[in-house]
Amino acid sequence: MPMEEHNKPIITIRGLTKTYKGGHQALKGIDLDIRQGEILALLGPNGAGKTTLISTICGLVKPTSGTVEVGGFDIVREYRKTRHLIGLVPQELTLGAFDLVSDTVRFSRGLFGMSKSEEKIDEILQDLSLMDKKDAMVNRLSGGMKRRVLIAKALAHEPRVLFLDEPTAGVDVELRKDMWKLVEKLRQSGVTIILTTHYIEEAEEIADRVGVISDGKLLVIDEKVNLMDSLGKKQLMVDLRTPISEIPSQLNEFDVELSADGQRLTYTFDTQSEKTGITKLLQAVSEAGLGLKDLNTSQSSLEDIFVNLVHNEHEH
Ligand SMILES: Nc1ncnc2c1ncn2[C@@H]1O[C@H](COP(=O)(O)OP(=O)(O)OP(=O)(O)O)[C@@H](O)[C@H]1O
Ligand SMILES: [Mg+2]
Repeated sequence: MPMEEHNKPIITIRGLTKTYKGGHQALKGIDLDIRQGEILALLGPNGAGKTTLISTICGLVKPTSGTVEVGGFDIVREYRKTRHLIGLVPQELTLGAFDLVSDTVRFSRGLFGMSKSEEKIDEILQDLSLMDKKDAMVNRLSGGMKRRVLIAKALAHEPRVLFLDEPTAGVDVELRKDMWKLVEKLRQSGVTIILTTHYIEEAEEIADRVGVISDGKLLVIDEKVNLMDSLGKKQLMVDLRTPISEIPSQLNEFDVELSADGQRLTYTFDTQSEKTGITKLLQAVSEAGLGLKDLNTSQSSLEDIFVNLVHNEHEH
């Protein structure tokens, strides 16, 4: 693949809005480039607009204004082309009850006019550990297995972009880890993956970039590590040799808190600022005559960041 093509975003979203018939504005102007080959996780509370965004890109919901291009094609004017590039695993389980697993996957491939290939079908079933369920009836499968069949269906026409709308909702821990492995494997084969999730540890575990959607707006989008660095706070925990009853005056200028048992000082600092102030703080601790027992640091998780962002947004 030529370099330029590789660097071009696979999906370009500009000024996208969606107002549903009842008048509810579910998307309030989304601008977003999705990179080729990345795993993008979209986080957001219920009703934030995640499914609306995905459904619009997939051509199932008509945008009110704005544009979306997939692989350089417009999702409205060139729907058939864009839809062909996309695989979608919807949030709701939608499967014909009496279909056989292999038939339903085969049918999905046929829908997109792809050449018949039993090899390809088997490969997909294999990847999803569904080979032994190949001739099973879909309605006899467990919820987690049904979800795998949905993924197999979405992959049947070999899409370049895969949307997973809450792929692990109601899925047990083991299956969730399997799902993560599968997503990683797909990415290695060059597929771009966009997933929505309520599980922050999921985004933390598998995503390259994380976007936070709330009330129809994209609040932030960044590399997962940057997000954790730039929005996260770090804390230094200073365990004292002897408990104290109040914070000594030497520490007044620092943002420190004393634990209830008087044995630990917690100092919160900004990871972005040039100076953390730790050296000065430790100097002040020593000047106050406090003996150190132990020092530890912690960094806020994606969860703290997410809760803060969405919380602040709602206050405005
Ligand atoms: N077909 C529809 N007609 C009218 N309103 C809708 C429709 N679909 C969704 N909405 C509304 O649009 C808003 C966004 O819904 P959406 O399903 O996109 O949220 P979501 O982020 O996917 O939520 P969840 O995490 O619960 O899946 C909600 O207020 C919802 O009630
Ligand atoms: Mg949804």
